[in-house]
Amino acid sequence: MNIQDYDFSGKKAIVRVDFNVPLQDGKITDDTRIKGALPTLKLILEKGGALIIMSHMGKPKGKVKPELSLKQIVPAVSAALGVPVQFADDCQKADAQAAALKAGEVLLLENLRYYPEEEGKPVGIDKEDPAYEAAKKEMKAKQKDFAKKLASYADCWVMDAFGTAHRKHASTAVIADYFDKKDVMLGLLMEKEVKAVDAVLNNIERPFVAIMGGSKVSSKIGIIENLLGKVDKLILCGGMTYTFAKAHGGEIGGSIVELDKLDVARNVEELAKKNGVELVLGDDSVCCTGYDFSTFSVKPGAKIETFNSSNIPAEYEGLDAGPVSREKFANAIKGAKTILWNGPAGCFECEDFTAGSKAIGEAIAKATAEGAFSLIGGGDSVACVNKFGLADKVSYISTGGGALLEAIEGKVLPGIAAVVGEK
Ligand code: 3PG
Repeated sequence: MNIQDYDFSGKKAIVRVDFNVPLQDGKITDDTRIKGALPTLKLILEKGGALIIMSHMGKPKGKVKPELSLKQIVPAVSAALGVPVQFADDCQKADAQAAALKAGEVLLLENLRYYPEEEGKPVGIDKEDPAYEAAKKEMKAKQKDFAKKLASYADCWVMDAFGTAHRKHASTAVIADYFDKKDVMLGLLMEKEVKAVDAVLNNIERPFVAIMGGSKVSSKIGIIENLLGKVDKLILCGGMTYTFAKAHGGEIGGSIVELDKLDVARNVEELAKKNGVELVLGDDSVCCTGYDFSTFSVKPGAKIETFNSSNIPAEYEGLDAGPVSREKFANAIKGAKTILWNGPAGCFECEDFTAGSKAIGEAIAKATAEGAFSLIGGGDSVACVNKFGLADKVSYISTGGGALLEAIEGKVLPGIAAVVGEK
């Protein structure tokens, strides 16, 4: 069913959103995901429906963790919607509150992941344990009951959590089994995200340049290999730089490295060569002798200096792209017609190490002004674009991190399959 055509009048809609927003001292530091869900939520209210909003926050792993309570975001959601938002302290015990909801009213359920049933993975038992399979089966059955309960609150289910659409969880997929096909639909954000992914996957205008940053090669290898079959240039930056430098025998000081992934790095280089893709790696790095990752600050007395990324003294660690790398990245982005950016080039949270990500963001904005389609995804890259005031200078900001990467890998996302797939 198409959400635009659905008659919400007098109905209750349970909407899965991704309100897993970054919080610092209980305050939202980036509300992209809340803003992203607003068109769907407002549409339902305008069409005379009542809203039951559900989401996860963080990874509480089946335990109640107050610091991950969605109650903290009630004021922000109320302000964004312009409607007071009621709160249900327990997502499985909201029957009375849901039943009492009238048209135009809104109820937000507490963090779904306070229950292990949401993810459907058995807790406290190792995968190697002989009893694991039986525990998994039991949990899958419980997951169905959990999803059924959520479904019982409403007349229809709207899936609008693109950021979590790569998870086959109770609220993102299993719940569809408890509604008529005509009463399940994708939200407006999902529709927009799918279109943006499509522009990058199927309507590629060349040159296509992808920029992958972040700390680990291992977490991005699937998408990197996939992109090597599609892009003209691939910029690899961030912490990954040092695994590549190490793979060539470089001295990387105390920089982040995955020593067990050196062959993976070498394979990436070979695959790029084989596919005729220009692989762009940074040559120099801004390094520091004392960075505190918990406060995102340079420790008192610590030194900051730029070195060749393969020649970093032992007491330093690389934390950002140096000036030579920044120019190299900007030149590689220049003239691109399709651009994908995921993952920052450095520890952008600290002013001393923002220059790499800023140079990338600005080069993308410039290419976009010259006609490129640019897609930015992943919490950190989105935070960069917002921080540098470039949000309205890129074509599309995705609310998805892992989900976006999986979609671009060409995988079918369970949250989409649950709505559009066969029943
Ligand atoms: C995200 O932040 O990428 C989404 O909210 C999904 O979170 P998850 O990786 O914990 O499933």
